[in-house]
Amino acid sequence: MKKITIAIDGFSSTGKSTLAKQLAKQLGYVYVDTGAMYRAVTLYAMQNGFVSESHLNKEALIQSLPNVKLHFEFNPDLGFAEMYLNGINVETEIRTLDVSRLVSKVAEISEVRAKLVEQQQEMGKNKAIVMDGRDIGTVVFPDAELKIFMTASPETRAQRRYDELLEKGQSVSFADVLQNVKERDYIDTNREDSPLVKADDAIVVDNSAMDRTEQFELVLNIVKDKL
Ligand code: C5P
Repeated sequence: MKKITIAIDGFSSTGKSTLAKQLAKQLGYVYVDTGAMYRAVTLYAMQNGFVSESHLNKEALIQSLPNVKLHFEFNPDLGFAEMYLNGINVETEIRTLDVSRLVSKVAEISEVRAKLVEQQQEMGKNKAIVMDGRDIGTVVFPDAELKIFMTASPETRAQRRYDELLEKGQSVSFADVLQNVKERDYIDTNREDSPLVKADDAIVVDNSAMDRTEQFELVLNIVKDKL
């Protein structure tokens, strides 16, 4: 069967990773969560005092980028790959609201983007990949055979993220999560380098009123046409 590249972009908490994981499993493809990579660089910047709510030492972070080694490792128990920063599994640390609050600031830095895009392109060079993020269909793989752009209302997305964080035992307020979703939307769509924008040839999936199964079936039918 033909191997293709599937690019899934969209706003935060639109369920991109859920869909991408389902597709990768069904097709036997590799799944890459590029948001995890931006989150891991952000965690590194936080650990080294380069970024906080009140400051960003862009130059120091750029200088340290060669020391930031990222890789994914497949966890057979979970059925997907986990993010490692300099050899340490950081899956839990990168999903906190603290990292979510700072990640868009770090993701605005062109040098950070260039480093991560290069690694993402390398991971996808043999196709048979499902990658999700903000710039996959526009910058990372502009020639992807299938591009999906996912969207849903900010309230629906904040509710999903809130439920997820509570499930993981993190104490957060719905208002804070909603504010974070809106702030990230704003920064991600307005930044100069690789803003979040629908690729001309992307198919829009608004899943505000769709459950996971409906969404998966809809997209799987689109994928089958491309194989
Ligand atoms: O996908 P997730 O919400 O985990 O991504 C976290 C943040 O990383 C986004 O809000 C965005 O600022 C940044 N990001 C990006 N480009 C990508 C993936 C994520 O700028 N391809």
